[in-house]
Amino acid sequence: AALALCGVPLRALAAGVRPALALRAEPVPLTDVRLSASDFATAVDVNHAYLLSLSPDRFLHNFRKYAGLEPKAPIYGGWESDTIAGHSLGHYLSALVLTWQQLGDGECRRRADYIVDEFALCQAQRQDGYFGALGRKTKDGTIVDGQSVFAEVKQGIIKSGGFDLNGSWSPLYTVHKIFAGLLDVHAGWANAKALSVLEGLAGYFADMFDALDDAQMQELLGCEYGGLNESYAELYARTGQARWMQIAQRIHDNRVLDPLEAGEDKLANFHANTQVPKLIGLARIHELTGAKAPGEGARFFWEAVTQHHSYVIGGNADREYFSEPDTIAQHLTESTCEHCNTYNMLKLTRQLWSWQPDGALFDYYERAHLNHVLSAQNPHTGGFTYMTPMMSGAGRGYSQPGEEAFWCCVGSGMESHSKHGDSIYWQGEDTLFVNLFIPSRVAWKAKGATFSLATGYPFEGEIALTLEAVKTPRFTLALRIPAWSKGAVALTINGEAHPVTPVNGYALIERRWKAGDVVGYSLPLDLRFEGAEGDPSVVSVLRGPLVMAADLGPVEVEWKDVEPAMVGEDPLAAFHPIVSDRPRYQTSGIVRPGDRMFVPFYSQYERRSAVYFKRFSEAGWKAEEAAYLAEQARQKDIAARSIDVMHLGEMQPERDHDLTSEISYPAAYRGRNGRDARSGGYFEFTMKVKPGPLLLSATYWGSERARVFDILVDGHKLVTQTLNADQPGKFFDVDYPIPEAMTKGKASVRVRFVPHDRSSAGPVFGVRVFT
Ligand code: AHR
Ligand code: ZN
Repeated sequence: AALALCGVPLRALAAGVRPALALRAEPVPLTDVRLSASDFATAVDVNHAYLLSLSPDRFLHNFRKYAGLEPKAPIYGGWESDTIAGHSLGHYLSALVLTWQQLGDGECRRRADYIVDEFALCQAQRQDGYFGALGRKTKDGTIVDGQSVFAEVKQGIIKSGGFDLNGSWSPLYTVHKIFAGLLDVHAGWANAKALSVLEGLAGYFADMFDALDDAQMQELLGCEYGGLNESYAELYARTGQARWMQIAQRIHDNRVLDPLEAGEDKLANFHANTQVPKLIGLARIHELTGAKAPGEGARFFWEAVTQHHSYVIGGNADREYFSEPDTIAQHLTESTCEHCNTYNMLKLTRQLWSWQPDGALFDYYERAHLNHVLSAQNPHTGGFTYMTPMMSGAGRGYSQPGEEAFWCCVGSGMESHSKHGDSIYWQGEDTLFVNLFIPSRVAWKAKGATFSLATGYPFEGEIALTLEAVKTPRFTLALRIPAWSKGAVALTINGEAHPVTPVNGYALIERRWKAGDVVGYSLPLDLRFEGAEGDPSVVSVLRGPLVMAADLGPVEVEWKDVEPAMVGEDPLAAFHPIVSDRPRYQTSGIVRPGDRMFVPFYSQYERRSAVYFKRFSEAGWKAEEAAYLAEQARQKDIAARSIDVMHLGEMQPERDHDLTSEISYPAAYRGRNGRDARSGGYFEFTMKVKPGPLLLSATYWGSERARVFDILVDGHKLVTQTLNADQPGKFFDVDYPIPEAMTKGKASVRVRFVPHDRSSAGPVFGVRVFT
């Protein structure tokens, strides 16, 4: 009989024929997978303890308060005390469900049910389907219940500025998190109340969307809305009510999604994490309706991001924004690779894979899961990263459990580390796929088969899969062949060599199985270089799936050296393995300014590392050395003298610097973000200062003409700046000495840009205060 993959003859797959949409594979339920000892299992345990340390009643504070009920515990701080309040509870719900599925802890389930009960109380109290914790800022800066934002939107009052909707920070993003949490509780153990509460909430927002015409809808969708389209599509899948799918399809941001559906990469300067969930939603709509464009848009986006916008660890975006394709090497900064983006990209990868099993999709999944997601939790504390810096010498900043800043990535972090078993095993028709090689045990119910997977991977290349029990013995086992192995894998069954015939990136074994069968799988873990997308002269070192990093010392010690470079014709020959339980290599003579120990990047939790290296031949290095070191020293000097840096036009820096503005807009030009203000408007923000003479430096585009504006420091004019084609075709900096009297005795000042009449200010592409 011809072998079949999800019902499709393998010959057809090998010849490149795509299987029909209905032929899908799906993950083996997380409840049927148990992790054995590994760093992944540790991450789940640490995260479990963190989840239990959090208080549902504190998360519920605003939900109750805004519903007119007495809160039972004080509100959390950080983002939970901002207008985005409530987003963490959505993630927390999902994480509780996943942890219950992964570990079986009944306390997680009890907490999730309790939160749903509390939601139901709040909803009943408010009587219109709505309940929520999100707020809006009033003119005096206080935060009040944000429901009026939606009442205004319904009347067509939509002031949408990317991350602000009528005075609230991405409120539909927060609403999406609550939708997703409730959907997860419903899916987890058929909690019917979770679904009915959600239907009430979904109805409230559906009425709001129904009141808007298409143009108003597009204006509204200019503000980040998470994956609300996915949630409505999923609600349709759960209930069969066509209304929810209609809403899902209307939540379609044309500006971003139309080019993607047409196969065009116009992602540069778009905020990355705002976009990824929209594509997850498109993929879900495609799954449920069969409509082609959404599916193709999702696939195109995945390819664009993973092949042209991703760092070697699988993360993307610099300071949260996409750049031009293939410019990774120009964006090796301290603010790369936001965790939420990868959390979402992995969800999208799972969906695409389930349409057609394809090893390449899981090659990306493994890379990002192992090197980015696993690096984003500090197992010693349970804290999470926001960014994972790709800049040499940078360390990671983890959240501090107990301090509770509750950034977005704390929420996505809670989920990521609840579910390390969710993508190892997948089931198609008569086939069990093994996509990740993580020590674990799976009970594959369809065949009554239990496998245990034992391995020291990714540190060692040997994997053993033992069939402990089986009821229906005829099936196919499909093991992913990572592309980096170049097919040099070896397979044995009960010690006997078995031929490997790759199909779509899988080694297939179809046979009549019996309890006690052992499959041995061996992967070659050689060192190799990979060039950064778009610049092969900037390389990273990998060993199998692991990204290796040069260890630059403990994070508490300031990094003052220059960025390491790699020199020589065959540098890999100068990597010498050091005996250890994990791969470690000492280099000899190839790293400048000095040799280094290379170790797995992900576990550099409290260390400084270098992942990217400019590569030189010996002759090339001789020619470049002086200029390279001088430029490095110049950059270091600027960084060392900086007291504060403001990245204008970028959401998080603008929030951190408490930016206020009128008639002022974010600008993106030639790969840089900035901000302008039109006549009658201004923008103003806080900058740190210190005693002594200081400079304020602003960056402008050198071809700007006829711009006149004032720069004020705490209300006093510092300078009037005119821009008139000063340095055509390039960005340039202007340094303004700040009179000492303006900063005396102060820790910070407000810097304000004000255009003259009928002119505009800037755009300004960044401001810095330095000594
Ligand atoms: O705005 C909410 C979240 O916060 C974004 O999705 C994330 O990128 C950000 O910083
Ligand atoms: Zn985030």
